[in-house]
Amino acid sequence: MYVCICNAVTDHDIRSATDAGVESFEQLQARTGCGNCCGCCEVEARLLLEQARAENAGAMMPLAA
Ligand code: FES
Repeated sequence: MYVCICNAVTDHDIRSATDAGVESFEQLQARTGCGNCCGCCEVEARLLLEQARAENAGAMMPLAA
């Protein structure tokens, strides 16, 4: 789904950005342009960014023995 209409940034783009090491909204802006125009998408983009980061962190947790 499109998160940022102004710059055609999707939820997939945000997930891909976090997979590539993006850790902050400012880094996401620099990489994708998300939020660089009207700013209407910022709240949703920040939420998706945090969810993706949390999922990535969970994926890196070692399994209990
Ligand atoms: S919808 Fe993202 S900057 Fe306008």
